[in-house]
Amino acid sequence: MTEIAVFVGSLRSGSLNNKLAHNLEKLAPEGVRFNYVDLNLPLYNADVEEANYPESAQKAKDIVAASDGVLIVTPEYNRSVPGVLKNTMDWISRPHGTNSFDGKPLALAGASGGPIGTAVAQSDLRHIAGYLNMRLLGQPELYFNLANDKFDENGQVVDEYKGRLENYMQSFVDFVQKH
Ligand SMILES: Cc1cc2nc3c(=O)[nH]c(=O)nc-3n(C[C@H](O)[C@H](O)[C@H](O)COP(=O)(O)O)c2cc1C
Repeated sequence: MTEIAVFVGSLRSGSLNNKLAHNLEKLAPEGVRFNYVDLNLPLYNADVEEANYPESAQKAKDIVAASDGVLIVTPEYNRSVPGVLKNTMDWISRPHGTNSFDGKPLALAGASGGPIGTAVAQSDLRHIAGYLNMRLLGQPELYFNLANDKFDENGQVVDEYKGRLENYMQSFVDFVQKH
């Protein structure tokens, strides 16, 4: 089984990114398991880290540590990374010397209602991932723009885009297996 730690950078119930992640899960090759990370964590605070690393952050850290690869599916907020996602990544990178992202293959994806499909947020994530010593899938990229029109009323991606999502997941799983 190929274990993928999945981050959805939105807590919103109707999230386009949550829909995209679940469609990617459905269209992934056989033998792939998505393990969703809960981003609803306390705000990172070094005092709390030292005194009592939160159980919820430990749970997130353990999912990443046990994974073969990491998939981030996120909106763009104010031309960057949503705070909940960055906060979770900060927790998982700590305590110092125990960065659970170290060496993990990473794929970035994002959906937005707008035209640029989270390109700037993904660009910022490449900087963060480089520092965290992750192995980034360069191609294919997945900027799921104008996404309000790309899902049906049940949250399924419309047929036209299924092949693209399938190809993206196959490429990521091949990349994970190479590393
Ligand atoms: C605080 C905030 C900032 C936003 N900034 C951007 C942005 O910089 N670029 C963009 O394309 N969309 C931006 N949006 C719109 C989001 O792309 C849109 O709300 C999207 O649906 C959020 O993802 P979700 O559906 O997964 O929750 C922003 C939304 C919020 C709430």
